Amino acid sequence: MKVLVIGKGGREHSIVWRLHESESVWKIFCATGNPGINQIAEPVAIAPTDIPALIEFARSKSVDLTVVGPEDPLAAGIVDEFTRAGLKIFGPTAQASQLETSKSFAKTVMREAGVPTAEFESFDDADAARRYVQSRKGSMVVKADGLALGKGVVVCHEQSAALGAIADAMERGRFGIAGKRVVIEEFLTGEELSFFALCDGENAIALGTAQDHKAIFDGDRGPNTGGMGAYSPVPQFGVEIEARIMAEVVRPTLAAMNARGTPYRGVLFVGLMIDGEKINVIEFNVRFGDPECEALMMRFDGDLAETLLAAAEGNLAKASIRLSPRSAVAVVMSSGGYPGEYAKGIEITDLERIEGNAPSEIKTKWALNKIRVKVFHAGTAMREGRLVTDGGRVLTVTAMAPKLAAAVDAAYQAAEMIEFKGRHFRRDIAHRALARISASGRASV
Ligand SMILES: Nc1ncnc2c1ncn2[C@@H]1O[C@H](COP(=O)(O)OP(=O)(O)O)[C@@H](O)[C@H]1O
Ligand SMILES: [Mg+2]
Repeated sequence: MKVLVIGKGGREHSIVWRLHESESVWKIFCATGNPGINQIAEPVAIAPTDIPALIEFARSKSVDLTVVGPEDPLAAGIVDEFTRAGLKIFGPTAQASQLETSKSFAKTVMREAGVPTAEFESFDDADAARRYVQSRKGSMVVKADGLALGKGVVVCHEQSAALGAIADAMERGRFGIAGKRVVIEEFLTGEELSFFALCDGENAIALGTAQDHKAIFDGDRGPNTGGMGAYSPVPQFGVEIEARIMAEVVRPTLAAMNARGTPYRGVLFVGLMIDGEKINVIEFNVRFGDPECEALMMRFDGDLAETLLAAAEGNLAKASIRLSPRSAVAVVMSSGGYPGEYAKGIEITDLERIEGNAPSEIKTKWALNKIRVKVFHAGTAMREGRLVTDGGRVLTVTAMAPKLAAAVDAAYQAAEMIEFKGRHFRRDIAHRALARISASGRASV
């Protein structure tokens, strides 16, 4: 089949790469692509939110399946419009995308579905929100309802901070329209975990667990970014938790969405807080995370295009996938200064030394330990025949190995080989799992 992928980051590069390995695929287009993607997919110069132009393109090329990476086109209704035009597309409709685009909607669905989540109320009126805060004790979390680029959530340990967050969002318009409504919820303690499922409206297939690292610096210090690293699976929770999340979260959510007449198709990204035996959903997203996707695509073993088409057609019950039990880790290399201001156009060198071209002693070590290394492009561009930086997050260096520690070592060994002025990456990706492994003395994970 011919596939069109929408997006241009590391997430989309890993999806394109996995589609490229799919037997059923013979041609891939990507709107808009990047230098890494463009080696295996034909770039299409149409913006991800220019839906009419994308429909015209998909029609003219007889595209069999479109796969959407980022949330913006989903929120803008790309799935609704492609479907209306008779084109197959993998992702949720605009209404179903509200699981991500409206936190109050997501919490209401969780409540209807009996999904475990923090106690909450939603407010359109600042005075009512203030009265609620004043009536409660302990820490609280104030959230802008809409998409706020990961900045709309304020964890408040003091009542005064919660009152300030309400005024910022609802009266000072700090998040624009996204903050006109707020959700105020109980503060949860524990360790965060992400879980991914492919959904076809009725059925779901588990894609595994991951943990991301949002802060720019080691030890989770400094400002938040789009994500500086991830790994999958997350060994400290064991594989049993996947069945629990499917039974207690994913299936009830699909049933509730169906009962509302807005069946959910696409990737369901479940953000959770785990505290001993207690699991609580923090939020849903309606697409893959970046860089969680890069780690998951390393582990995905099967025909991704067939699987996503089955999901788009409501046929997942018959599909089966295999997910490697090996550990994958993704380390993001970012531009100096990111997530603040940073320069673009800085030359990237030595990228060709990774993958097939690593020095022979490294190549041998990787081969002997069954390590695979893959570099995905995120913010790169070609200028006069040279590869340069073109974004805050530049590359995602990904490795997979039978043991997590070996995957982490290989990812760092590869990252060290790639040079660009001002390059930055965290040195402690997967630290929670590695600490647990060394504490328990179990070398098996
Ligand atoms: N109820 C909660 N208790 C404790 N921490 C929370 C809670 N809700 C959110 N957080 C923290 O805030 C982060 C962002 O919240 P989330 O709902 O995922 O919003 P978004 O990803 O859209 O910014 C979470 O990853 C978590 O660290
Ligand atoms: Mg989140």
